[in-house]
Amino acid sequence: MIGLIPSENHASPAVRLAVASTLSSKYSEGYPHRRYYEGNQIIDEIELEAINRLKKLFKVPHVNVQPYSGSPANSAIYFALMEPGETLMGLKLASGGHLTHGHPKVTFSGRFYNSVQYGLNDKARIDFEQVEKLALKHRPKVIVAGNTAYPFELNFKKFSEIADKVGAYLVADISHVTGLVISGDHLSPFPYANVVMSTTHKTFRGPRGAMIIVTNRGVAKDKDLPGKIDKAVFPGLQGGPHNETIAGIAIAAQEASSEQFQEYGHQIRKNTNALVVILKERGLKLVGDGSETHLMLLDLTEIGFGLGTQLAFALDVAGIYANKNTIPDEPCSPFYPSGLRIGTPLVTTRGMKAVEMRKIGNWIADVVEIVAQEELPQDKKLRHQFIKNFKQRYASNKALLEIRVEVKKFAKDYKLFADEWQLA
Ligand SMILES: Cc1ncc(COP(=O)(O)O)c(C=O)c1O
Repeated sequence: MIGLIPSENHASPAVRLAVASTLSSKYSEGYPHRRYYEGNQIIDEIELEAINRLKKLFKVPHVNVQPYSGSPANSAIYFALMEPGETLMGLKLASGGHLTHGHPKVTFSGRFYNSVQYGLNDKARIDFEQVEKLALKHRPKVIVAGNTAYPFELNFKKFSEIADKVGAYLVADISHVTGLVISGDHLSPFPYANVVMSTTHKTFRGPRGAMIIVTNRGVAKDKDLPGKIDKAVFPGLQGGPHNETIAGIAIAAQEASSEQFQEYGHQIRKNTNALVVILKERGLKLVGDGSETHLMLLDLTEIGFGLGTQLAFALDVAGIYANKNTIPDEPCSPFYPSGLRIGTPLVTTRGMKAVEMRKIGNWIADVVEIVAQEELPQDKKLRHQFIKNFKQRYASNKALLEIRVEVKKFAKDYKLFADEWQLA
């Protein structure tokens, strides 16, 4: 199989060894040298090592490595910075933001805070005029700059200028692009944001977890910020940290500090560009006409109505997995969206380069042609049954299964983790 989900990656053997270790058996509520349980001498060393490696890597004064994952980490940041009912501004989910950035009604971030959401301009880029207008009108306590399905660079400088105008905290959620920030292929948030959050399992290529970073700008704005963040994580929202994950983060931090990781980040960008080129050569349309990161969004609206679900399923049958996604101004529905999100971090970890991207791009385009006629019914009541029938028909589609055979043969040559990095 070939994985093209932009939020996924393969961690190194060393990271996986740590995650599978007996470190997971130990309880260690609290922070190094301030634990509620005995027997944490080694755990203290590991957590401090993870923190120190990250502080050195990002040149920042404070890091917390205990958040269980990205969503709890964002909750902790909001818990530290806002009272319930205060205003949070973030990028709309449909424009490529994350659920935890204030998505209304169904999420904690949209329900416990006064959520104001900004969107994109007609070039599919973040609409900074709108961000500024909304900020001046609503005076948010926190502005989040982060992306889950936004293929372009986040301009943290512009965000910070707006945040400064209204006295807001700027939180950069770089979960998706941390690896690119490290390799210098994406603008760094550290000179601009007050707090930075990153999951550790995406382009950072560590275990499933997260880190919260307080920058020099954060400390300058509020010298108590590091303590507030730590208290919000524990005891505010969590109990005992996942020590095996923290060990994995320490290892990933060391890997991310290497020359090879710089190359990895550069290669992600090269691969994304190569995939963009072939998809466009094959006549496919991309949201915003391209990518400046590790991901792109296929816009299928010119091919047919509501094709995202069908394409994602058909690709899976063909041995390639990516995810259906809404596109800006989604004409169909979030349940049956019109786009496909594609990313290159995982195939890059497997050692694939531009030549392989052309092969993959051609397969994607072939699959698009196979499902192009399978438009979603306009009548909402018919959609569920239509998709059910579609899946039954296409699970054994001959053309898709032929591609699957080719994909399987091709993928065999690429190990899940190409570089046999050893822990130094
Ligand atoms: C930008 C961003 N923030 C936060 C998260 C949440 O991370 P997790 O799934 O680890 O809770 C994600 C996950 O996709 C994300 O893309």
